[in-house]
Amino acid sequence: MFSHLLRLIIYTGKGGTGKTVTSCSTAIKLAKNKYKTLIISADPAHTLSDAFAVPPIGYEQKEILSNLYILQIDPVIEMDKQYNTLLSYMATIFSSKGIDETLAYEIAMLPGMTQLFSLLKIEEVIRTKEFDTIVLDMPASGEALRYLYFPKLIGSIGRKLTGLAGIFSGVARIFQPFSSKSSTSTSSFLHSESDLLDKLDSLASIITNHDITSMRLVANPDTFSIENAKRALMSASLYGINVDMAIVNKIIPSLSSDAYYADMAAFQKNKVEEARSNFYPLPIREIKLHYNELKGLEMLERNGESIFGSEDPSKIFHRGKTFSFNRENSSLRIVVKVPFTEKDDFNIERYGDRLTIKVKSNIGHMVNILPLPSITTGMKLTKAKLYGDELNVMFEMNP
Ligand SMILES: Nc1ncnc2c1ncn2[C@@H]1O[C@H](COP(=O)(O)OP(=O)(O)OP(=O)(O)O)[C@@H](O)[C@H]1O
Ligand SMILES: [Mg+2]
Repeated sequence: MFSHLLRLIIYTGKGGTGKTVTSCSTAIKLAKNKYKTLIISADPAHTLSDAFAVPPIGYEQKEILSNLYILQIDPVIEMDKQYNTLLSYMATIFSSKGIDETLAYEIAMLPGMTQLFSLLKIEEVIRTKEFDTIVLDMPASGEALRYLYFPKLIGSIGRKLTGLAGIFSGVARIFQPFSSKSSTSTSSFLHSESDLLDKLDSLASIITNHDITSMRLVANPDTFSIENAKRALMSASLYGINVDMAIVNKIIPSLSSDAYYADMAAFQKNKVEEARSNFYPLPIREIKLHYNELKGLEMLERNGESIFGSEDPSKIFHRGKTFSFNRENSSLRIVVKVPFTEKDDFNIERYGDRLTIKVKSNIGHMVNILPLPSITTGMKLTKAKLYGDELNVMFEMNP
């Protein structure tokens, strides 16, 4: 149905790492390569107009360069426009139970719902078949990423339970006698509910289509943002989203004769190595920290050159799962590709929801992070073994 869309490229990473500038740089280069390109941001602030250094653009898509359109999504506007029936229906049900209407809206508005409405807007844009390539600049929170996987989740749960409508109309019937407000049109609710599930389904099929969608990680040369991106990589594998590149942004060039900056550059050199090791086997792009703030068309375009050189940003730079998960009875086997093959030179320790793997390397000890999926919470690490460049980690259910 969406055969027109060639590529959906999603940038994710910790706050402030450079997702927005990287998205903008990618979009400019795509537009220059003659793809009709849309860059979408669902950040609460006006980040796109700030990055491109253009006047605020409002919430309608706007062409700012030949072939380059920008769209700043306001989730609240989106929700109001299309899904108010759904929300007000749920709120009616809650308020019919005597919950104050203001509070009822709060409850009906589950956390992360706003992200969901942004995603639905994206689906709508794809449906217009207007664009060849779409670049999505994700908001920083880890939650947001989860909502990218949400379509598939509530899509399938919703259908299994014969739809949200089934649940809520059932609940509504129970409360009907007590409420005069429950007469809110059930049929318009049913309509918007099935419409919602259809949209979530088609969005999920686009996001998990490896020929169309690629996620790219943005990190800085520091432990926190590397770990955050590694977790995104793990989750993407879980959800079947292809990740095709990692960008390590804001690296201080090691030219300085000043001791402070020389030390910092040396520290970052280790972190870049650590990133390489953690994102293995993804292609990595290293981008230096500019001495001034990266913004405005010209600078962003040059940044696109440093990321992609003569390559087309729409290329699929890597395919394949970095992580795989196999459930066998009461155990879980996680297989992760690692850039070391010597059996003796690593050591593994579990800290809550991650394993840290210390590896000896030519630059000293390096830390590989293995983020653990939530299912391991009630499990015990029983075995870790290396087969070639694949680390196999076994977990057993606690008795
Ligand atoms: N390589 C770089 N050199 C210099 N400045 C940079 C570089 N990359 C990003 N910046 C600057 O860092 C700031 C944060 O970048 P950006 O807004 O792209 O990050 P973000 O990941 O989108 O942040 P948020 O999580 O808040 O959305 C901006 O002021 C940007 O201009
Ligand atoms: Mg941003």
